[in-house]
Amino acid sequence: MTGTTKKIWVGSNWKMYKTQTESVQFCEAMCPVMEQISEHIQPFVIPSITSVQAVSALFRQKNSRCLTGVQNMYPEEEGPYTGEISPRMVAETGAVLVEIGHSERRQWFHETDELVNRKTLAALNHHLRPLICVGDQLFHKQSQCSAEIVAAQVKAALLQVSQEQMASVLIAYEPVWAIGEHGIPAKPEHAQQIHAAIRQALTELYDAGTAAQTPLLYGGSVNLTNYIELIQQNDIDGLFVGRAAWTIQGFSELLRNLDQRFHH
Ligand code: PGA
Repeated sequence: MTGTTKKIWVGSNWKMYKTQTESVQFCEAMCPVMEQISEHIQPFVIPSITSVQAVSALFRQKNSRCLTGVQNMYPEEEGPYTGEISPRMVAETGAVLVEIGHSERRQWFHETDELVNRKTLAALNHHLRPLICVGDQLFHKQSQCSAEIVAAQVKAALLQVSQEQMASVLIAYEPVWAIGEHGIPAKPEHAQQIHAAIRQALTELYDAGTAAQTPLLYGGSVNLTNYIELIQQNDIDGLFVGRAAWTIQGFSELLRNLDQRFHH
């Protein structure tokens, strides 16, 4: 994170957890906490599709700054794609963010770099903000090619994305070996090295200014013991948290601690 005036993005992908009732209860409890957090922190939640509309409506009603997002979206306007959700449907839910290319989507639902690119373009065309997830596998790390693999994923995701559109793009580096119950959190130096490689890829595609203004989030076993070291890295602008932010206490502590540490 460079400089204290830059926004720190802190949010959570809830994966296939929390029903609509549970989601709304969670967010109702979080609203007073988020009200006390300074504007330098940008909170967001990415619930299941069945919860997004209710959660977005609740935040609107409470005047909350917390953004919502969806975990997936199909890149066509409409059509015979049973089970899929179009950008227009997403826009109506009140979601601002569209998570694209999470490693679980790549692994279980065959999401390729090409599909990630199509989804990114579709999101941008509908004035939604893509949160593009990229990450290396353990095999890549062992082969010491993590930076190249991740840079290639970033470049592929951004094919035909204009410099102007980049103002809406967010990128999350989520090493596959760091995610979930058996994940090992990336060492801050490793995360920094890959974030710097992403910044470099963005500089090559656009320019240094565009690279600097694109929020780069780190995700993968972020928790209450490692988040400070991670966010202190030069090129880490935010945290994309799973398990550690799924409880009201966990998410509250993360937001409060980050706010106190960096902005008071
Ligand atoms: P985790 O999940 O924090 O539970 O490892 C991260 C993610 O999958 O985004």
